[in-house]
Amino acid sequence: MPEIRPVTRDNWRELSKLSVREDQREFVASNLYSIAEAQFGEDIPGEGHWDMTPFGIYDGDTPVGFLMIGHNFDARKFQGFVIRLMVDEKYQGKGYGRFGMNWILEHFRADVRVKTVGISYEPHNEGARKLYASLGFVETGEIEDGEAIAALNLRS
Ligand SMILES: CC(C)(COP(=O)(O)OP(=O)(O)OC[C@H]1O[C@@H](n2cnc3c(N)ncnc32)[C@H](O)[C@@H]1OP(=O)(O)O)[C@@H](O)C(=O)NCCC(=O)NCCS
Repeated sequence: MPEIRPVTRDNWRELSKLSVREDQREFVASNLYSIAEAQFGEDIPGEGHWDMTPFGIYDGDTPVGFLMIGHNFDARKFQGFVIRLMVDEKYQGKGYGRFGMNWILEHFRADVRVKTVGISYEPHNEGARKLYASLGFVETGEIEDGEAIAALNLRS
C-alpha cells in the first residue's frame, strides 16, 4: 500500500531526484523547483496568499512520486488547489498517481473551509485529463498561462 509523507530535511534530496519522461517534462516543474516554491507560497492579486505544501508518494521506503497542494481559504473560486502531481517515469501506470489524487481529495474533504478544489493542466496532457475527469473534475473553459482549469465541488 503506497503512502504519502511530508517533505522533510531527510527526504527532500531523494524526492528531488524523481523525474518524468523526456516528453512529459513540459507538463510539470521539477520537484526541486516545487520544494523551493513551497517555502514562500504565492500572492495572487485580488485573491490573497496561497500556502503550498509538498509531499512524497512512497511505496515502502521507495520514493515513487511527488505532489503539492495549495490552500487559500479566502479565495472565492478555489480554496484548495492541486498544484503538482508527478510519478517517476519508472513507476507510472501502477496506480500511484490515482492514489495521490485520492489522498489529496480526502485531505480537502476533511476541511470544511475547502468548498471547491481546482487543478490545471496542459490541454494536450491526455493522461492527466482522464485521471482528473474520472475523479469528477469538470473543465471550466478557462485557460490560464496556457493551462486548462478544472474544478471539483466538494460542498456548497
Ligand atoms: C499523470 C500521472 C501523475 C499519472 O500517474 P500514474 O501513476 O502514471 O497513473 P495511474 O497508474 O494512477 O493511472 C491513473 C489514470 O491515469 C490515466 N492515465 C495515466 N497515464 C495515462 C496515459 N499515458 N494515457 C492515458 N491515460 C493515462 C488513466 O485514466 C488511469 O486510469 P485507470 O486508473 O483507470 O487506469 C503521471 O503519468 C505523470 O507523472 N505524468 C507526467 C507529469 C504530469 O503530467 N503530471 C500532471 C501535471 S497536471
